[in-house]
Amino acid sequence: MKDIKKACFELFLKNKRKLGKYQYTVPSPDTYPYQWLWDSCFHAIILSHFNIRDAKAEILTLLSKQFDNGLIPHMIYWDRKTPTDFPVIEWGKKDTSTITQPPMIAYAVWQIFQKDKDIRFIKKIYPNLYHFYRYLLSERDPHEKHLIGILNPDESGEDNSPRFDIPLNLPPRHSFKENTQKRLNLVAQNISCNFDAPFCMRNFFWVKDVPFNAIMVENLKLLAKLAAELSLENDAKFFKDAAAKIAEAMKKYMLDKGVFWPTYGENYQKIEVKTWAIFAPLFAGILTQNQANDLIKKHLLNPKEFWTKYPAPTVSMDEPSFDPEGFWRGPVWIATNWFIYQGLKNYGFYDIAKQIKESSIALIEKSGFREYFNPNTGEGFGAKDFTWGGLVLDMN
Ligand code: GLC
Repeated sequence: MKDIKKACFELFLKNKRKLGKYQYTVPSPDTYPYQWLWDSCFHAIILSHFNIRDAKAEILTLLSKQFDNGLIPHMIYWDRKTPTDFPVIEWGKKDTSTITQPPMIAYAVWQIFQKDKDIRFIKKIYPNLYHFYRYLLSERDPHEKHLIGILNPDESGEDNSPRFDIPLNLPPRHSFKENTQKRLNLVAQNISCNFDAPFCMRNFFWVKDVPFNAIMVENLKLLAKLAAELSLENDAKFFKDAAAKIAEAMKKYMLDKGVFWPTYGENYQKIEVKTWAIFAPLFAGILTQNQANDLIKKHLLNPKEFWTKYPAPTVSMDEPSFDPEGFWRGPVWIATNWFIYQGLKNYGFYDIAKQIKESSIALIEKSGFREYFNPNTGEGFGAKDFTWGGLVLDMN
């Protein structure tokens, strides 16, 4: 690929959709023809490099379907008639889903603001952001432990990750069909209690995930900065404190011998399954420099774990669940590489970050804009014309 920037630009033109005043990007025309929450945040981050107007439109369109309680749904079916090979899950609502996804919105908005300093845009969307993050801080933390819960694996964005095998009562090796069935059963339970988050979490799926909480910490810090730009000093203090409290709670409940693990159940049982999630706290600066040094040396650069020919696999190679071609069970996704890249840079590992960037570009050059890649061979799988590859433009 001669010019990766040009290729991304063309991909984003191809996947751009307009519907009256709404505009968004589909992650993949054939497989994912709707709008997704964290995808739209990635799109806005990517678009901020070459089309700030489209980046803003993507965010405005995403916010337009916010629920009264503040939740922003993880899927918006703008045009449900579009044929799709994506297994359609009924979430109990016609035009959107009823669950959320990793809250990357403040990060995307902050990045847009860094480019054009358009304070009117920030003023316009701030109330939506305020309600969304307040919703997560209250409804997803009913016991005030300062950890944010997810009520369904799909809220993590990593639908089939082995991090959720234990809470779903699945063995490390099982079929895609078995996994889907478990998640469909959970959706039926979620629907039966009307997606009442505290109730759903308490009764069906009580998981505090590492990336979701690390993403929350980083986003709350940036939301505090956005509030400060609007001279909302009380809000700024509130969100900054909330970020610090989550970071502390993560250390208290998730950390064991230098590694953060997700927890499940009311007793915060650690789920010790090694996935890329162990690197997510680097993204939010939650580790000390020494802890980061150890983590990277022991796990990321370990050829038996995450240092494959094309790093970094989403699951460590020494896990029984590792499957180099399984959905969220081993392959490389460019978004997880992007999180790792940003985390490495936070701690001064510029050379390793560069290798992650080069490996990501090599995967796209070898196999195209595919959804995920075999970490050993580089072969591409899943959706085609998949937008997340554009994140290489933000590895700089
Ligand atoms: C899959 C992924 C999810 C993503 C969606 C659209 O469901 O697991 O993270 O948001 O596809 O790309």
